[in-house]
Amino acid sequence: VSHWTEVGSLTNALENRSVLIRGRAQTIRAVGKNMAFVVVRERGFTVQCVATVQPDTVSRQMVKYIAGLSRESIIDIEGVVSVPSVEIKGTTQQVEVQVRKLYCVSKAAVLPINIEDAARSDVEIEKALQAGETLVRVNQDTRLNNRVLDLRTPANQGIFRIQSQVGNIFRQFLISEGFFEIHSPKLIAGSSEGGAAVFRLNYKGQEACLAQSPQLHKQMAICGDFGRIFEIGPVFRAEDSFTHRHLCEFTGLDVEMEIKRHYSEVMDLVGRLFVAMFDSLNKNCAKELEAVARQYPFQPLKYLPETLCLKFEEGVQMLKESGVEVDPFGDLNTENERKLGLLVLEKYGTEFYILHRYPLAVRPFYTMPCHDNPAYSNSFDVFIRGEEIISGAQRVHVPEFLTERAQACGIDVKTIQTYIDAFRYGAPPHGGFGVGLERVVMLFCGLNNIRKTSLFPRDPLRLAP
Ligand code: 4AD
Repeated sequence: VSHWTEVGSLTNALENRSVLIRGRAQTIRAVGKNMAFVVVRERGFTVQCVATVQPDTVSRQMVKYIAGLSRESIIDIEGVVSVPSVEIKGTTQQVEVQVRKLYCVSKAAVLPINIEDAARSDVEIEKALQAGETLVRVNQDTRLNNRVLDLRTPANQGIFRIQSQVGNIFRQFLISEGFFEIHSPKLIAGSSEGGAAVFRLNYKGQEACLAQSPQLHKQMAICGDFGRIFEIGPVFRAEDSFTHRHLCEFTGLDVEMEIKRHYSEVMDLVGRLFVAMFDSLNKNCAKELEAVARQYPFQPLKYLPETLCLKFEEGVQMLKESGVEVDPFGDLNTENERKLGLLVLEKYGTEFYILHRYPLAVRPFYTMPCHDNPAYSNSFDVFIRGEEIISGAQRVHVPEFLTERAQACGIDVKTIQTYIDAFRYGAPPHGGFGVGLERVVMLFCGLNNIRKTSLFPRDPLRLAP
């Protein structure tokens, strides 16, 4: 045997060929003293391996050794591919490997959670329980406490490949549109979003914060004549909210660009970027999406080739007409965002849309008011399935006015003085947006909790593993 074969590429074409594979012993089963079955899993693919006592290759002692392997141990197997006459149930591959040699590379200790149980859908769990199977429902905390094992389920293997693809498409699309990538500091002097949700720290005797967003520095880079930029990086929020969609650390996909005439230039980019992203995910991550849907069933996202843009006032009107009273100059709460999402789906047939021209009072200090009515602003949020994934806006680029706006929003201007000063030497009109990566994946896949799409989630109660 000269080279390794991946479990996923074991097919009929390799019948009678010798192969060398490495994977985890997912299940081990002995049949009498002369035979043992091991299902070997590698990157989500599984194959049944059979060890049968044979004069030259497999001894009884070896069968006994195999039967005593622990689940999830990493093993190397040399064997011959065979095609059984009956369909094999419970493995992804339709061939078997007749074991000649087996080495245990890394032995697994007794597992705190059963990975097959952790991989079942709610419907499968109900069925199994009704059939009298013994099975432990693995709850979210247990999963996260044992995240390394939890990550081995097919759904999680899918989720994090999808997440990677979202980042890839974001980067590729923006580069093709003339943007380039920056890396802004995460240790900064003041709060960048003007809120209270800031992690404070001591920076060599000076008070500092973990950046709540790249907001200030991506705008300063625009003042440095960078034109069109993006960043993919960590964002820290000392959120006290225990919700299904807030984390204390998440990955921000940020964009900032010069605007020639109107903030619709930014919304146009958002629309095209996300349609390209959804198209690509559906096309290139079909297997991953299927693996996620098998454990967490969901309907594919409905979106239009031309992204719908609605005015905030229109949204308020739609809610009113359906009998929901909302403050026309307040923010929409989560429940009303959801309701509006359903109304939009009904009326326009899309679960992805942009809502713009928000009331100025509910937006951060750096947001540009509308020139025709300063009670509104040149800003927008973007929704998937009725939940926010993006907020964006045109920014104030006049330093005196920016100072005024910061003061009006109760911000200590001293802490952001270098940011304000960046606009003193000529600053182009500009705008941009911030996307929450975990939210995009959660909502595209119709998942119910953002912790499912964060590798090692950080929330108010969790700093480990
Ligand atoms: O709405 P946010 O706070 O906007 C900003 O940070 C602006 N600087 C963006 C801009 O360029 N104007 O955050 C942007 C996105 C949200 O739409 C949401 O998807 C995500 O970041 N987000 C969170 N994701 C997980 N946990 C949290 N606590 C989040 N807070 C915001």
